[in-house]
Amino acid sequence: MLLIGQVIDRGTLLKIAPLRAMSVRQGKVFDVVRFVPDRHFANQLLAEVLIADTRQHAPISRRGHSTSGFWSMAPHLRPTMLSDLAFVLSVENDPANRPYITPWERTQHEGAVRFPDFRHFIVEREGERDGFVILQGCRSPHRSVELKRLVLQTHGRGLGRQCLRLLKQMAFRDLHAHRFWLDVKAQNTRALALYASEGFLEEGRLRESVRVTAPSGEDPAGVWDSLVVMGLLDREYQARRAQGLEGVAGVV
Ligand SMILES: CC(C)(COP(=O)(O)OP(=O)(O)OC[C@H]1O[C@@H](n2cnc3c(N)ncnc32)[C@H](O)[C@@H]1OP(=O)(O)O)[C@@H](O)C(=O)NCCC(=O)NCCS
Repeated sequence: MLLIGQVIDRGTLLKIAPLRAMSVRQGKVFDVVRFVPDRHFANQLLAEVLIADTRQHAPISRRGHSTSGFWSMAPHLRPTMLSDLAFVLSVENDPANRPYITPWERTQHEGAVRFPDFRHFIVEREGERDGFVILQGCRSPHRSVELKRLVLQTHGRGLGRQCLRLLKQMAFRDLHAHRFWLDVKAQNTRALALYASEGFLEEGRLRESVRVTAPSGEDPAGVWDSLVVMGLLDREYQARRAQGLEGVAGVV
């Protein structure tokens, strides 16, 4: 039996990853959390294990080539630390991102870092932070996991697609989601195009449900946008995998 203490290092995590993958293949849950007394630490550890496992089992590209050479360049998701929150807030409040999201207070992010129903990740590539991701509903009895937030510093170079594929893999393979869903402002054409091209189906619109920043001179109280609800079901994701549509996407 493997006993895990608070002083676990990355090498040990990498040794854990194959055990976890093997137990998943055998249909058993490898519950790291129950070995660790500190729940917050345990959830961070679990997320680290998921990452280690994901990297070790780097998927095959759409053309069937191994992507392991590319993988070291690919983004990875690591648990957000409280010391990352200044970065998170700065990305969220960047004028290039702000129109598309409703920024949170620091305390809301702290809650998402600590609360087990959430997963809060930093997107890193080649050791540099490039954004963050929040999942919610990770403990949902309905296995309905929400992509609560995906915000990057680098836009239009394929990073969003790469992150989304990692997140789908995490939601369906690791968190055993039945449904992976999100909402997105109707004005956010880039994100809409990305989600649609990654298999998310529009499920409905919450009409005029968010107030958006008005161009100067307009009445801010009168400018509304709709939220588009989009979702992907487990069987739809598996069908995409079978068609080779869930390989590693490139960054240009
Ligand atoms: C939305 C976001 C995560 C997408 O990530 P990204 O790295 O910029 O997107 P990608 O480069 O992977 O592009 C994905 C697709 O979007 C589409 N796209 C890119 N730029 C676009 C634009 N300006 N207008 C419309 N569609 C666009 C393209 O279809 C592209 O795929 P393709 O180039 O392979 O055909 C990122 O731009 C971001 O952080 N935006 C600000 C915050 C935000 O909107 N978050 C999402 C809230 S729901």
